[in-house]
Amino acid sequence: MTEQETPPARILAIESSCDETAAAVLEDGRAILASTVASQMEMHARFGGVFPEVASRQHVLSITPVIEQTLAQAHLTLNDIDAIAVTRGPGLAGSLVVGVNAAKGLALGSDRPLVGVNHLEGHLYSAWVYNAGDTPPPEPQFPLLALLASGGHTELNLMTGHLQYQHLGATLDDAAGEAFDKVARLLGLPYPGGPAIQEAAVNGDPDAFDFPRARLEGTWNFSFSGLKTAVLREVRKLEKAGRLPVANLAASFQAAVVDALFTKTMQAAREFGAKEILVAGGVSANQALRSAFLGQDEFQLNIPALSLCTDNAAMIAAAGYQRFIHGHHDSLDIDVLPTWPLS
Ligand code: KG4
Ligand code: ZN
Repeated sequence: MTEQETPPARILAIESSCDETAAAVLEDGRAILASTVASQMEMHARFGGVFPEVASRQHVLSITPVIEQTLAQAHLTLNDIDAIAVTRGPGLAGSLVVGVNAAKGLALGSDRPLVGVNHLEGHLYSAWVYNAGDTPPPEPQFPLLALLASGGHTELNLMTGHLQYQHLGATLDDAAGEAFDKVARLLGLPYPGGPAIQEAAVNGDPDAFDFPRARLEGTWNFSFSGLKTAVLREVRKLEKAGRLPVANLAASFQAAVVDALFTKTMQAAREFGAKEILVAGGVSANQALRSAFLGQDEFQLNIPALSLCTDNAAMIAAAGYQRFIHGHHDSLDIDVLPTWPLS
């Protein structure tokens, strides 16, 4: 079977690992027939971050309507679905349980296979997904160097084939998205910090402050805690002086993160003989990061559409499809895996 001749299948996927309740129906591993994301973001913004108990309670309220709305939007019923995919981890235990239990119920009730999906694998597969009716973007080609930068994870993997990962390195402390969120708070910007910093940075000078880039030479790891501390120190100093140049601080911080992510990903792609690069996870929505990767012409770039960068169920369906066609079906007594690594 070639990459292009994938067997037809419709996957209904559920995602509830953090603060988004999402469902999607995907055809043939790539084409979105319907996708719904109910975000709790505004609810959590009050707390400056995700409040786990509030998240799971909200998932309980949203999950059934979100699934029903998604099937209705696709003009399908459960009879038209070939498998039920669900995020099993990593994520918040109480939130994952809601999605996994809903998926078990649907699988049992419809006598369809259940496929547990790793959320990080889902993020990587977001690069395969497109809206049904649109021209399919070229399928990513292996071996590809994958940068995954989200709120909870930042890592580099060499993908040698479908579901095949060689882990190269990861952040030793904060994830890139977490650094955006924490620095946003320091600058008095709202949660989630990534979009807020990006917006503030538009009017800022990325060279205004020379923030450190932890190079960690000889490894494929990242570190963002030193950068965060450097911003904190600068903020304290400037606050004493009575004026906080938020735009310049945001632009300089963003430039440091983008530089660290871009430089190491390019080095790794060369070192491991990658054919292409893939960038995914919430931070891949960042315009400065996208521009950096779009600005190079050494490697073909695979990057999800903006709506697919942050948490959604279409990406879970895409990863679930690969697991499904490779025979990775799960039993109905699977548990959630809140700290499940990708490889
Ligand atoms: O992948 P995601 O939706 O959830 C996790 O799996 O963690 O990523 C969320 C993270 C948050 O830290 C958020 O601040 C960051 O992605 N993010 C961004 C942008 N949009 C979301 N970071 C930088 N620039 C953005 N435009
Ligand atoms: Zn995510």
